This record gives sequence, structure tokens and C-alpha cells, in this order.
Amino acid sequence: MNHPLAQSRLTAMREVGTEPGSFRAALHELTTMLVYEAARAFPIEQYPIETPVAPTHGTRLANPPLLVPVLRAGLGMADSALALLPESSMGFVGLARDEETFEPRAYLESLPADLSGIPVLVLDPMLATGGSLEHCCRLLADRGCTDITVICVLAAPEGVARLERSGLPLRLVTASIDDELNNKKYIVPGLGDAGDRQFGGM
Ligand code: PRP
Ligand code: URA
Repeated sequence: MNHPLAQSRLTAMREVGTEPGSFRAALHELTTMLVYEAARAFPIEQYPIETPVAPTHGTRLANPPLLVPVLRAGLGMADSALALLPESSMGFVGLARDEETFEPRAYLESLPADLSGIPVLVLDPMLATGGSLEHCCRLLADRGCTDITVICVLAAPEGVARLERSGLPLRLVTASIDDELNNKKYIVPGLGDAGDRQFGGM
């Protein structure tokens, strides 16, 4: 998303000296912009309303999405997304990437059993190898979801290619596609560990 305000929030998140409070504030604001951008594609419906002057037609989302933050780091995007989409419900997926194999380990799945006909907005700031987001989107597709929008702050080309290869019914909205992954599978130049930068190391 090549918008000056989005890029300035992303810059604050990238800078190594940004404190956790300022990092979280920049993530909240950037998430608002990314969700706003993603929502352009949402179907709407019209319904009758009355202004103080005359009857007319109002507009609302035809099918508000289920929001799914991927814990931990996606938690920092949840409030902003829900503020823009107050009609939405929220599910949760908890994944922790193994720092040796780089494979995601699932520790929480709190999702409706049947997602057929329900659009889903997945929130995770980082798409690196793509293992975590592919795992999350498979959980959704296994429940019948056919309309997934992934919102992330930063993506690596490797992760974008993996999601494309997955054949899953998804589209990606991101503020930047960075250069590459390093040998620890961190995004370069990136912003470091998005969970630790919000919540501190474990
Ligand atoms: C981070 C991030 C993604 C994942 C990306 O989470 O929030 O979920 O890594 O890496 P991948 O694309 O290579 O799978 P992490 O597993 O570090 O957990 P955390 O959110 O608890 O910090
Ligand atoms: N997870 C993060 O938080 N940052 C990266 O650069 C890669 C994975």
C-alpha cells in the first residue's frame, strides 16, 4: 500500500529505536489504513433509512467478515480492525514459529466450525516463509471458507510465492513487499520480531 501515511507508520515500526508503545500505536494506525483499503472490495447492500429531512437509501456491508488475528503478533491489529468493522465477530488462531525448523506450531484454534459463506479477514503483521499464514488459511479452508483476505504489514517475496502456490482462496493486502529473508528467516530489511517488539521477549 503505497500511501504516504501508511509508509510513515511503517517507517516508525522499522526503526530499531522505536519503543513498544510507539510501535503498537503505529501498528494500530497502519492496520486501520490496511483494513480500509481491503474493505474497498467488500460487497455492500442498500437499505431504506430516513434522514431528518427525507427518506433515502443507506449502505451497509452485505456480509461482514470474521476477523482472525494470528496470536501473538496479530493481537496488535485486532482492536483497530474491529473498530472499523463493528458488525464483525472474531476468531483466534495461535501459532508460534519454531526458530530451528521455521515451521509453525499451533497452540490455539478458536474458530466457528462452519465457515461456508463467511468471508474472513486474517490479521498477522508478518508474512516471512509463509508457513504460518498458509497453516492458518488451511484451517479456514478446511472449515469451508472460500473468501480469505490476509492483511499483513510486511511480506517477503518467498512468503508471497508460497501463498500463491498454495491454491488457497485468498488475496493479500500488505504495506510492503521487502527484499528477502536472512538465514534465520527474518524479513530483510523488515522490522525484527513483531511479537517481541509489541509485547517484549519471551
Ligand atoms: C511471527 C509472525 C508470523 C510468523 C511469520 O510469529 O507474527 O505469524 O512469525 O513467519 P513465517 O511466515 O515464516 O511463518 P511468531 O511465530 O514469531 O510468533 P509470535 O507472534 O508469538 O511472536
Ligand atoms: N516473524 C517476525 O516477527 N519477523 C520476521 O521478520 C519473520 C518472522
